[in-house]
Amino acid sequence: MKKSIQKLILVALLGFSSIAPVAPLATQYISTQVEITTNYENKILQSINTDSMYNHITHLSKTPRVAGSPEEDTAVTFIKKELDSYGYTTEVQSFPFKQYISPDTLEVSVENFTKDLQPLSMEYSIDGHVSGEVLVAGRGKMEELKHLDLTGKIALLERGDISFVEKVMNVTAKGAVGAIIYNHESSEIGGSLGSLQKTSIPAIFLSKEDGNLLLNYVKNTPQTNITLKIEGSETKQNTSHNVIATKSPTKKVNNHEILVIGSHHDSVAEAPGANDNASGTAMTLELARILKDIPTDTEIRFIAFGAEEVGLIGSSHYVDQLPKDEISRIVANFNLDMVGSKDAGDLIMQTVDEKPNLVTELAQAASTQLNGKATPYNRGESSDHASFAKVGIPAALFIHNPAESWYHTKDDTIDKISKEKLQDVAEIVSLSIWNQIRIDVQEE
Ligand code: BES
Ligand code: ZN
Repeated sequence: MKKSIQKLILVALLGFSSIAPVAPLATQYISTQVEITTNYENKILQSINTDSMYNHITHLSKTPRVAGSPEEDTAVTFIKKELDSYGYTTEVQSFPFKQYISPDTLEVSVENFTKDLQPLSMEYSIDGHVSGEVLVAGRGKMEELKHLDLTGKIALLERGDISFVEKVMNVTAKGAVGAIIYNHESSEIGGSLGSLQKTSIPAIFLSKEDGNLLLNYVKNTPQTNITLKIEGSETKQNTSHNVIATKSPTKKVNNHEILVIGSHHDSVAEAPGANDNASGTAMTLELARILKDIPTDTEIRFIAFGAEEVGLIGSSHYVDQLPKDEISRIVANFNLDMVGSKDAGDLIMQTVDEKPNLVTELAQAASTQLNGKATPYNRGESSDHASFAKVGIPAALFIHNPAESWYHTKDDTIDKISKEKLQDVAEIVSLSIWNQIRIDVQEE
């Protein structure tokens, strides 16, 4: 994986000798090249400017940046302008997506229950008007549903363990005609099924407090009937944008490989998205800045994706429009999503199959070198790396685990961002990238 030092002789021959003098004798080449490599490595690590990342997060997180909104357009213009200012020719790639407009009628009525519940819209739920006996279905994991007959019933589910969409799909498979999911904590998270057309029964979301009221009532009053009514949701065509800056490889040593560093720039409604994901966007900008004039044998694409929060749409669009030849030349996708939260745990990586790949190997080597500890990885596909993995590209997400409790809420603001975390992730990722892109020459 790691390129051998001997292979770096060509760096000097190509004239990057401003960093270190080229020794005339072959025997001296190796030590000279070690020095060149080390010099670039130090140069990269030392040029990381955490204040600049922090300032970019501050700027981006002044408003939410919902895909297709004017605020997203403003963020896209800002990202493009920054990348242009580093000397890149930056492309804005626009694409259509279907936007969900929340229903105007959202009702839940519980037979003989006097308390007033405040149902919340579950993003992407279909409209529907259904009645049935309510059945408590735990967190909706298949093993919990094994012995339940939900045919014609409304499932009452607790948030947690698995995604909202998985819960709804699991109870649908068991015959349920409607789903009510309640929060397991008092956070103001919005409920979302991730994307359109995944589910076929109406679903609503309740706060923890309302959920517990209903749960207690249902436990004490078995065979209670519930009616759910959702009307007026719409899907509307909208446009979002990917911002792409490309760094060409150094001509004579072009190995035709491509590395993609990406992050999504959009946020969910109401969330300023300082951590999710102005942090990853700012880090992508910073990596583009510090790598701009570093000689490499690999092409690097820095991409800020749009419409991640509505179903990984920007990254899917990007991958889908790539010619086959380019897909086969992309050796790695580094996905930076939520990389700066004060209140989250330690850095981890996520791959869609929980297996190691070039990205995890590079990052484990880099983190061991920098901190004496290899960044661990586990399974996860809730971000843009999944679009790359889908077509066989080695891809991993960089994120802190566990995530902060204010994720996807209005409290995702700049005051929760840690400069130390930003610095740590930027070091690990930039060193990983450098070890992959540094100039390589065939050994004799
Ligand atoms: N940054 C999150 C993903 C995330 C959050 C991963 C916490 C791990 C821990 C991302 O922006 C997101 O919210 N993704 C969606 C999924 C997507 C398919 C719409 C999600 O997780 O709901
Ligand atoms: Zn995110």
